[in-house]
This record gives sequence, structure tokens and C-alpha cells, in this order.
Amino acid sequence: MALRTACKTDAYCVVLTQEFCYKCNASEIASMALETAEWCNYQVPFRSNASLYPGMFLFTPVQKLGRHAASFKGILKKTLGSYNLLTRMNERTDIRRLMRPHLVEAEPYAAIDPPEVLARMAGIPEEQIIKLDGNENLYGASPGVQQALASCRTYHIYPDPQQRRVRHALAEYAGTTPDRVVAGAGSDELIDLLLRLFVGPGDRVIQSVPTFAMYATFTHLVGGTMVSVPRDETFDLDLEAIGREARQGAKVLFLTSPNNPTGNLVSQETVQESLKMGLVVVVDEAYYEFAGSTVASLVPEHNNLVVLRSFSKWAGLAGLRIGYGLMDPAVAERLLVIKPPYNITVASEIALLASLQDRELLLSRVKSLVEERDRLFVELGRFPQLTPVPSSANFILCRLRQGKGRSLYGELARRGIFVRYYDTPLLRDYIRVSVGLAHHNRALVSALQAILGEGETAHD
Ligand SMILES: Cc1ncc(COP(=O)(O)O)c(C=O)c1O
Repeated sequence: MALRTACKTDAYCVVLTQEFCYKCNASEIASMALETAEWCNYQVPFRSNASLYPGMFLFTPVQKLGRHAASFKGILKKTLGSYNLLTRMNERTDIRRLMRPHLVEAEPYAAIDPPEVLARMAGIPEEQIIKLDGNENLYGASPGVQQALASCRTYHIYPDPQQRRVRHALAEYAGTTPDRVVAGAGSDELIDLLLRLFVGPGDRVIQSVPTFAMYATFTHLVGGTMVSVPRDETFDLDLEAIGREARQGAKVLFLTSPNNPTGNLVSQETVQESLKMGLVVVVDEAYYEFAGSTVASLVPEHNNLVVLRSFSKWAGLAGLRIGYGLMDPAVAERLLVIKPPYNITVASEIALLASLQDRELLLSRVKSLVEERDRLFVELGRFPQLTPVPSSANFILCRLRQGKGRSLYGELARRGIFVRYYDTPLLRDYIRVSVGLAHHNRALVSALQAILGEGETAHD
């Protein structure tokens, strides 16, 4: 059964119901392909909404497919299995053949959707969406940031490629010197730049899974090989296994403290042990302000240690994309050379500087979020069906004793509450909820009560 919806834009949308998507066979797909072939010359799977509408695809109509119908059938079939294909159908040149093979096959990062898309999915107004899926800071940016951005008069001038003021301010905040600091468009960009600097085709990179998916995504983009070492049942690192992999040759090791999505810390001793393994150790402290623990003081003694931080979480600037790294001056000097020259925009610089001015207020918000996290942890633990995992960050991973994270996600999404679920074998039984303000968290708990039944002593 396929539900077709004409789109107001020039796109054409086909939604397969979940039942159809899972049960369909090749001939059913093929007949749908022929039906849609009339309108298509592009087809782009609508990947990130796959949980609510597992079979949704977006088609852009340009010309009839004609003799391309057969290959379209094959591609659609493949797409339904992988959700990652972008194929131009009517090109005279097979443009994909000109692309680097490992990038043609690259899996997309399962990025989160913006509020307007979530609102459309849930069928409710945007302002009613409760967004607990991106570990964002629902207090928003500080008032100083709003004011400074409104009064800026230099948006028409390129920003400083050397990031002088930014690096100076960050060095003061982090207790180091500017020659050890590089800022990026989110800490994401620094992960990318570090991998470009150290990793080439065939080089190995180590991570401990489950962890932040961008390490693997960026490693693949530079042609490296990601080695994933499993964590133990309490999500602690297996340092011995990491050591074994390092001895087989690896360039970079990612340690994440607190780890996303498990929320646990990496001890200073573990970092120190890892630093002896002869590779670059990247300690990702994106949630540092929520945890209060850092290994930044080790950076001056170890030229193979890089600490990454973000303004997305504590400072509420996820939309402006600001992160930074603390590292050896020789590494910083190279990153400044290979980065895009204007990666910190004028707006980002203004927001960063104003956030640091407003740090007292922002850190008091962090404190409130930590208190909320601890309250929410207790509330979640009252549901017999849920086991929350202790967290040092602004989110809580939650194991479901029954059912899959994806279906609980769907139930919550229908009520306008968006959390994170995972389509990976390690985390299929989990959801991750970002900690919101008190009223967001209360709404989450009420929705869970409606879905799962009352928690044992909830509301007492
Ligand atoms: C562990 C970790 N590192 C890095 C990032 C990326 O942060 P940014 O927004 O600074 O790119 C995230 C974002 O969720 C994260 O969880």
C-alpha cells in the first residue's frame, strides 16, 4: 500500500506505510517504481525521518524516465535496504563513476532534523515541539549574545582567518595560551581537520563503541579505517583491547568524556595510559561544563594529546557552530594552515566572545540543567520498563526492558516530543533523552506515563 502526496514545491513525495515497507517484495517495489518513474529524474530517500515514516522518499520530477525505468527499479530496491542513495537518473554522464569510490558508498551521518520538519512530522505547530533529541541547550543563547549580534555592523567584512580575538579569549577561558588553541565550525570541524591532518587512505583510527558517530563518518571520508572496540556492559572502555589495536598500528584514538550517548567519563589515568600508545589521543570534552572534569592540564606535557570542546551545549550556540581544540602548538599551527580560512564567521566570533562575557549566567544554567538531569534520572528510573544510565552530561541514555527504542521514539514523536533512537545493533533497545528545562522534562515523564503506564511511584 503506497500513499502518494502531491507536494507544494517541485518535489513529489511517496510514503510507504511501515507495514508495506517491511513486508514488500521486489515486484511490489518494482510496480511502484514504474508508477513513480513517470515523474522522476532524481530520487532522494528521506532518510532521517525514517522512524516515523520508514518508507518515505522524496522524488523530484523533471522528465520521464523512459528507457531508464529498469535501472530505476534496481536502484529503488537497493535504496529501500540502505536509505543512503542519491541517484540522478537521466544524466548523460554517469556522474557517480567520476566520484571517489569510497565516497559514492559513504553512509550519511544520521543528523537530527530541525524543529519545522519535526513539527510537520508530528502534525503540530512548531512552538509545541519539545526537542530532546540533539543535546542542545533549551535555555538558548545568553542575552548578551542576542544583543551583540543585533548591534553588529560588520557582517559584510570577512572574519579574521587567524582567529586572533577568538583564540585569545578561548585561551583565557581554558587556562592556556592562544598558540595552543584552534577554533572550528563546531567541534565537528576539528574532528574533520584532525583526521585530515593525521589520517590517510588505509590508516587506522580507534574508537570505543557505542560513541559519537562523527568519528567514524569523518574517518571514512578521509579514506581511513575505523576500528571499533566494544565497551563493557557498564560502557567502560576496554583499555587492553584498545592497546592491542594500537600495537597493530593506528594513528588516532578517540576518547569521549563524557561519552555520547552513554554519558560516562574517561578517567585521567586511562587518558595517561592511552598517551603511551604512540598515537594521537583526541579527548572529546563536548560536554565538559556539565561534567566539570577535564584533562586539559595534560596538554602541555603531551604533544600527542588534543582536547576538543564545544559551545553547542553549555553556551546554547549549536546553531552558530563553534567548537575549539587545545593542543600542541605544532598541531595548532598546521590546523590553522589546513582549515578553511574563514571558518569562524563574524557572527560566531561575536557570539563566542559575548558568551564568555556572560559565562556566569551560562554556567548557572548548566548547574540548573545538571539538577534537572538528576531529577529526571530518578523519574525515569521509576518506570519498570526503563533503566536510565547514569550520566555526567546533559542527556540520559535509557534502556528499554521491552520493545525497541524506535517504537518508543515513534510514540513520543506523535505527542510532539522528540528523543534520539538508534538503528544500530548495540543501541536498538535504547533511547537517549536530552535534558530540557523543568517543564520539558515534566512533559516527557507525563508522555511516558501515558505510553508505558504509570511509573511505580511517579507523581508522589
Ligand atoms: C561527543 C560529541 N562531540 C562533538 C559533538 C559535536 O559538537 P559541535 O556542535 O560542537 O560540532 C557532539 C555533538 O553532539 C558530541 O556529542
